[in-house]
Amino acid sequence: MFIEPVFGKKFFGREEILATLHKRVTAIKGGYRQNLALTGPMLAGKSSILRHFLGSVRSSDIVPIYIEMNGEDFRSFSTRFMASLLYQYLVSEGRQPYPEFDRLREECAEALPVTLRQIDAICEALDRKKENGAYEKLLDITSIFKCETGKKCIVILDEFHNLANFNLKKPFQVFGKFIMVQKNTMYIVSSSQKTLLKEILSEKLSLLFGNFEVIDVDGFDNQTARSFISEEAKDAPVPDDITSYIIQLSQGNPFYLETILKRFSEKARSSGDQGRRDPKECLLDSLAELLYQSDGILNQYFTNTINFFLEKKARKTLINVLVSIARGNSQIKSMRRDMAKSDRALGEKLEKLKSMDLIDKNGVFYKIQDRLFEFWLRNVHSLKAETLVDDMDIKYLEFRDTVDRDFLEFCQFNSLGAEATVRMLFSSFRNERVCLNMNDRKMPLFGDVDSRRLSGNVSEIAGVVDNSSWVCHVKEGDIMEENDILCLSGQKNIQRGTKIVRKIAVPLGGIEHTAFLLAKENNIWVWDIKKLNRMLRLYGKFELVL
Ligand SMILES: Nc1ncnc2c1ncn2[C@@H]1O[C@H](COP(=O)(O)OP(=O)(O)O)[C@@H](O)[C@H]1O
Ligand SMILES: [Mg+2]
Repeated sequence: MFIEPVFGKKFFGREEILATLHKRVTAIKGGYRQNLALTGPMLAGKSSILRHFLGSVRSSDIVPIYIEMNGEDFRSFSTRFMASLLYQYLVSEGRQPYPEFDRLREECAEALPVTLRQIDAICEALDRKKENGAYEKLLDITSIFKCETGKKCIVILDEFHNLANFNLKKPFQVFGKFIMVQKNTMYIVSSSQKTLLKEILSEKLSLLFGNFEVIDVDGFDNQTARSFISEEAKDAPVPDDITSYIIQLSQGNPFYLETILKRFSEKARSSGDQGRRDPKECLLDSLAELLYQSDGILNQYFTNTINFFLEKKARKTLINVLVSIARGNSQIKSMRRDMAKSDRALGEKLEKLKSMDLIDKNGVFYKIQDRLFEFWLRNVHSLKAETLVDDMDIKYLEFRDTVDRDFLEFCQFNSLGAEATVRMLFSSFRNERVCLNMNDRKMPLFGDVDSRRLSGNVSEIAGVVDNSSWVCHVKEGDIMEENDILCLSGQKNIQRGTKIVRKIAVPLGGIEHTAFLLAKENNIWVWDIKKLNRMLRLYGKFELVL
């Protein structure tokens, strides 16, 4: 399956990340260089961001070079690097060059003799199979180019971790050595393998450590996802509950959103016997076709994911662990119970799955990272794997029914509102350890959880355990201000005969920076929508869609 990044008109959102990238470009023009690293799961939209950014850097003194590192050999990587440099140089001079290496060299011969000498040296080293030498010369080229032209380069290396596949001696250390001294070249690297990239940027070579500002590329936030959906489905508006359901199922991942929306719109447009088709039926059909059917694009994608990450030998046992987690067994003891057989290597397997970014560990909880992948593992993979009699039509309907039930459950959840949702979350705590802001915290088993409305859009949830209590203020709609935090921090320490030992602010409409600092000062935890959703997910609930 070949999925291309989007750019130009089809590109949507991502204003914040693009703003950061452009801020760094302005900085390097002024002499301050900050390298960046984008990480996020496959298909989160990293390449799209990078290409869109590439298209928007138009400046005669900056030359951006973009290289996608996708399994080619070192020679073609180097050639693409050099060709891109020459090409983008000519573009920065207002020319429209022809993207062919020899022609680019010819066109640059007069203006860039020194850079071209370096290029010749690299080609010669490559011909003599001196790849390590060629690599160092290649890394040096942007500095030489800067001396010759006064133009600074932005080198973008997409799926950067693949540098390890080139058979070079200590590729990352050498890379680190060069970027340390190249204050005139800005590097932007990206990787779909988050854990691996973080390892590369921190442990493996201390020379890279601290040299990169890491930006996480997640799904679209709720609001962006909503506008994306209404934009995509202009001619057949999607009902609100379906929009919310799709957003929580896809966690705003643009590829999932687009794929589901496209199919949904096709279905909604094709009228049935009695005019327009019922939107819910369209949803169920779309998801069944995409996630269940063997030619469904999402089904194929997840099947590939499994085959790509899990080598054949280990596949079966690792999948069993994944499926068990997907079924809601998020702690080791319940996994052991679920998988019946005692598995001494379970800890090791969990570590392995974690290093592949398929699962996350948080406190005592293990979770499949990707919500839709989890849904597929639970409802498609298991269903197909357990088939006794091979009748896929029956299973197809079974799957459709499962989606139907899930959708109805979600609608019920969604109608609860924020106050009841947080109350439900508090009631689910069972003394588990959860990692919050790098610290493990115990979530108490409350004897009693209450809630009440404090004012128009602020409600209070209080949980009591023995002589102490936790108090949480949820604000919906409007941004949380200093006053809201003062109100929470000033709350009397005695509540119904108990001492308040923990205060939490949940600013669903965002929080002012000063209010956030005030909360920190007063040791109040702040759970924004992202954090709250992470907690809900750990406790096996749906996520809140605003
Ligand atoms: N900003 C965006 N706007 C619209 N669609 C997007 C955007 N980002 C990603 N997509 C969709 O997701 C797909 C994968 O994006 P891509 O950038 O290739 O992801 P990654 O590089 O992270 O694997 C694209 O083909 C497109 O359908
Ligand atoms: Mg990519």
